[in-house]
Amino acid sequence: MLPLYLLPILLDRAAALVSPDGTGRLPAMGWNSWNEYACDINETVFHDVGEQLVALGLKDLGYEYVNIDDCWSDKVKRRDPVTHELLPDALKFPNGIAHTAEVVHKLGLKIGIYSDAGTETCGGYAGSLGYEEIDAATFSKWGIDYLKYDNCAVPENYTDQYPYMPEDPNATPNVPPDYDYSTSITASRYRAMSAALLSQPRTIQYSLCAWGHAHVERWGNSTGHSWRMWGDIMPIWAGKEQWSWGLMPIINQASLLWNATDFWGHSDWDMMEVGNGNLTLEENRSHFAMWAALKSPLIIGTKLEGLILRKPILEILSNRELIAFNQDPVYGKSARPFKWDGKADAEHPAGYWVGTSVAGVHLFLLNTHDKKQKMKVKVKEIPALADRANARYLVHDMWTGRDLGVVKGEIVIDVAKHDTAALRITTLHGKHPNAAWQP
Ligand SMILES: *[C@@H]1O[C@H](CO)[C@@H](O)[C@H](O)[C@H]1NC(C)=O
Ligand SMILES: *[C@@H]1O[C@H](CO)[C@@H](O)[C@H](O)[C@H]1NC(C)=O
Ligand SMILES: *[C@@H]1O[C@H](CO)[C@@H](O)[C@H](O)[C@H]1NC(C)=O
Ligand SMILES: *[C@@H]1O[C@H](CO)[C@@H](O)[C@H](O)[C@H]1NC(C)=O
Ligand SMILES: *[C@@H]1O[C@H](CO)[C@@H](O)[C@H](O)[C@H]1NC(C)=O
Ligand SMILES: *[C@@H]1O[C@H](CO)[C@@H](O)[C@H](O)[C@H]1NC(C)=O
Repeated sequence: MLPLYLLPILLDRAAALVSPDGTGRLPAMGWNSWNEYACDINETVFHDVGEQLVALGLKDLGYEYVNIDDCWSDKVKRRDPVTHELLPDALKFPNGIAHTAEVVHKLGLKIGIYSDAGTETCGGYAGSLGYEEIDAATFSKWGIDYLKYDNCAVPENYTDQYPYMPEDPNATPNVPPDYDYSTSITASRYRAMSAALLSQPRTIQYSLCAWGHAHVERWGNSTGHSWRMWGDIMPIWAGKEQWSWGLMPIINQASLLWNATDFWGHSDWDMMEVGNGNLTLEENRSHFAMWAALKSPLIIGTKLEGLILRKPILEILSNRELIAFNQDPVYGKSARPFKWDGKADAEHPAGYWVGTSVAGVHLFLLNTHDKKQKMKVKVKEIPALADRANARYLVHDMWTGRDLGVVKGEIVIDVAKHDTAALRITTLHGKHPNAAWQP
């Protein structure tokens, strides 16, 4: 007899990367160095972050990965001349990556690393294209639990026949309507690392940083545990600078392609900028609420040192009800938009979102406008409740943990400029109002 937990792997291997220990079933939670430190990293940063995750109570809330981003390897020597293994930068990691892994593991946390499905990483360090087996084995040997796999420096002869970038969806004309993007070279570059990781004696969560290219959301689930959907995020509300984007254009894309996420496979709307740049309190809140609602991986990108003093930010990142929605064990799908404020563009994406969890039906009301709005929803407009619109419901505020009151027919709430109301709706007795509904 096979142990029961192995059955899904055998049956579903083609459908999804289902790991026996449950890795990747829910969105990953953790911290990554890029948004705060870029290349200015060293082992102390990660050892301290591990301690901070514990001390701030974030580990207990589920934040478990301490992820090293780009610039950790030796930019000059690159690989061992004999074994071809990647060499850590000896100044930044004088004791090697395996030592940092050990320190992080001792804290009961997991460790992530970064590489690239091209000849070089985005920072110009050695990439893994052509070295997938060696690098996966090295990561496994070091005790790595998570790989973020980027998409820079792709050689000319690896160019897709029908390139697709989400920011410019019509750039390639004449794509056959039945073209299968899982046959693209991009998919094969990511599959090569997937196979290499799966052949290791260690479970390594595989985060495809393919920027939505080659419609990764169509083959991501059979290749890895999560997949980036868009260019890089930056801590601004709207607009873009170079290849980095604010929150509104990213959420606008999510309002079209929220639907690729379910258990074992998550669209990744990028690491969080909560606490960075000049986002306002309300914008920090909207960022976290929407990432939780989208079931995006929740990877903190702000400095943890001193976070205890930045109380509003720590409170946002620690919101138990939003984390519980993101990590719900029974309902795997993202919240979905159901109403737009007239506009549907990169400045004003959908404002009205609905999702479901074991605790009830949830509304996320995102005020994309530059002033306070009275956001109004008729119960009959809410897909989860449309067929039971005449009942009375209890409305609860997920931010404060308090019940707001009983409604019938319509929910009306003031939402500050760029803020998000996060509501839970139940029956008057606190029961789920429609447990059978899915987005
Ligand atoms: C390690 O990196 C941090 C963050 O960039 C920096 O503040 C610190 O001085 C560095 N430590 C060493 C020993 O280089
Ligand atoms: C591209 O060229 C390299 C070097 O000649 C070769 O190893 C590789 O297999 C080629 N890849 C593809 C997809 O043609
Ligand atoms: C998700 O929505 C997009 C856009 O409407 C559609 O093309 C695609 O088929 C949907 N995918 C799934 C998995 O339902
Ligand atoms: C991924 O595959 C698993 C197993 O087949 C399935 O349960 C899940 O719904 C899929 N997720 C997505 C995002 O398609
Ligand atoms: C800060 O916000 C203003 C708009 O309020 C914007 O113009 C500016 O680019 C932002 N700066 C940074 C560093 O994000
Ligand atoms: C949101 O985060 C940024 C960066 O830390 C900060 O400047 C802003 O004040 C934050 N809002 C609050 C109220 O902490």
